[in-house]
Amino acid sequence: MAFIEERSRDRLASIPILDPDGILSLDRKPVILTRHRLRGKIRMLEKTFAGPTLTALLLLPTLLLAQESAVLTIHADQPAAKVSPTLYGLMTEEINYSYDGGLYAEMVRNRTFGRDWSGVQHWILIEDGSSSAEMGVDQQTGPSEALKSSFRLRVKQADLRNRAGVLNDGWWGMPLNPNTTYQGSFYAKADSPDLGPVMVSLVSNQSGKTLASTEVNGLTRAWEQIHFTLRTGAIEPSHANHLAITVAHPGTLWLNLVSLFPPTYHDRANGNRVDLMEKLAEMHPAFLRFPGGNFLEGDHIADRYQWKKTIGPLVDRPTHPSPWGYRSSDGLGLLEFLEWCEDLKMEPVLAVYAGYSLAGEHVNPGPDLDPYVQDALDEIEYVTGGADTKWGAMRARDGHSQPFKLTYVEIGNEDQFDKSGSYESRYPQFYKAIKAKYPDLQLIATRPITSMKPDVQDDHYYVRATENFHDAGHYDKADRNGPKIFVGEWATREGAPTPNFGAALGDAAWMTGLERNSDLIVMAAYAPLLVNVNPGGMQWETDLIGYDAIASYGSPSYYAQVMFARYLGDQTLSSKLEGPGLDPSNPKLFYSITRDSAKRRLYLKMVNASTTAQPVEINLSGAKLAEAGKLISLSAPDTQATNTFDQPTQIIPVESPLPGVSNHLHHTLPALSIQILQLDEQ
Ligand code: AHR
Repeated sequence: MAFIEERSRDRLASIPILDPDGILSLDRKPVILTRHRLRGKIRMLEKTFAGPTLTALLLLPTLLLAQESAVLTIHADQPAAKVSPTLYGLMTEEINYSYDGGLYAEMVRNRTFGRDWSGVQHWILIEDGSSSAEMGVDQQTGPSEALKSSFRLRVKQADLRNRAGVLNDGWWGMPLNPNTTYQGSFYAKADSPDLGPVMVSLVSNQSGKTLASTEVNGLTRAWEQIHFTLRTGAIEPSHANHLAITVAHPGTLWLNLVSLFPPTYHDRANGNRVDLMEKLAEMHPAFLRFPGGNFLEGDHIADRYQWKKTIGPLVDRPTHPSPWGYRSSDGLGLLEFLEWCEDLKMEPVLAVYAGYSLAGEHVNPGPDLDPYVQDALDEIEYVTGGADTKWGAMRARDGHSQPFKLTYVEIGNEDQFDKSGSYESRYPQFYKAIKAKYPDLQLIATRPITSMKPDVQDDHYYVRATENFHDAGHYDKADRNGPKIFVGEWATREGAPTPNFGAALGDAAWMTGLERNSDLIVMAAYAPLLVNVNPGGMQWETDLIGYDAIASYGSPSYYAQVMFARYLGDQTLSSKLEGPGLDPSNPKLFYSITRDSAKRRLYLKMVNASTTAQPVEINLSGAKLAEAGKLISLSAPDTQATNTFDQPTQIIPVESPLPGVSNHLHHTLPALSIQILQLDEQ
């Protein structure tokens, strides 16, 4: 007796594959056996085999029969609703080292020697051989109003063979690739020209070998920005490296805003990591919600996201504390968010600070709130205004003369936690002022408002997989006369740092509900999106994409997102799922059906969260289906299975042809699987 692992890359259950003449086949294309076809095979088998072999063979297929067939009826000519064109997007904030130490490609950590980092974290003194030096923070001098202090290196003794200086260990290392150019800069001054040239080098932590270096000359007693490039040769890719800045003569050197960038996505200066941007692009996101999340609110009002301090030259950005336990460089500031949108063809969903911070502080509605409302109006003008407006001109000064398209503005974040109830008046105050100037903007409320109907309401869900199975129909009966819905943060929280396959099943079940209700749900976004998996990198468990300094991987949930966003039509269809095997008290089978009206193509998404295969009879009317379709499948042997750094592609979607499609289709979903059937109309 022989078995083949059917679609072994998919890790489906082992199923005996029998040729029509009763021969077990080891190399045939996968066949999904329906009960009807299976019985035929067994009859054939009875003629061919006898005795214990037959008993064993007969027992195994009963596994397949364990689930009763479900019946799915689809009316291709009866659209039920329009699918929101912005249904799937991204939610981000500075959490889990999402930007600094993450997407934002800056390689130098603590580049501004900020005071509340005790000044010199991640900077280590270099005293080679007989050299001698001391380092500290000089509060008396800095390169700008925003950066008033600096790093000071006092070199008492040094020579060409015994250099003194300082090194930076990067964001859990400094990623270097072969034959690559790195763009660097710093602000610096020296007490005397006698200090001589400054050597900037990239050095391997293990071997101590210099992998790239350059000399910087011309330091004066005044602060100046100096640019340099470093180029690696034929090295091995590695993140176990550091940046060294050394001198060969006694004297004093001051530094600030020490920066080093690898090549970035779309070659943007001050840009983003290529691997992460490519992963985000794969998600086909329609929008980007920023800058939070709790990051928008800050622990205290003074720590809120102040967008005006995140624009313009980096030297004019003072940095600020984030509620997630570390300081934000704000190198990825408002314009960089917008350029990120531009790069991935997303629309910004701009969240404006609305007068509530996490420690329970709020700004009273009325005159006290007016400056914050004005700040939001200025921010909208920065995003959308022509270069002839005050803030539009600022954006043009910052390098982007064209205004950005903006449809949605979110007023605050999770204001249900403001126990004073002031959001009841804060939201309307923002609403009135913004609508007066920008009547077309859709304004998102972060909780229900009793005194008025918001345009859109942002709902958040962080749940377990079982909760998603039970709640996948959450919006099926929701009031269509209320506000539109933005599911601004949601995730099945199982697995850390990134979700496991059980979570992906919960996510996929939930997304079938989002799609079914996408007449009401205008947008939805998983959160959090990113996590640096190094020790201390994660503040929030279960994040979609994991990375270290040099590599990244997508979780099973990430691939579920990729599949759902990529294969999405523009209308939902009238449909019904029935069957004796479907247990409403323990739902395990979920689906959504959408149609791309331009391509005349259907996407049937099905999720089987059960550990047994699930046969489905699909009856489609109102269109004639072409015989050849496509199957996209994501599955795993158990719910704990996941992707990791060592095995980043254990669980990935597998595409295969789907032959023999007809209007009456028998399909068996493997145990623990998420599948999409792409069906073309003739
Ligand atoms: O996504 C993590 C956090 O969860 C967000 O910052 C906040 O909005 C929510 O409570």
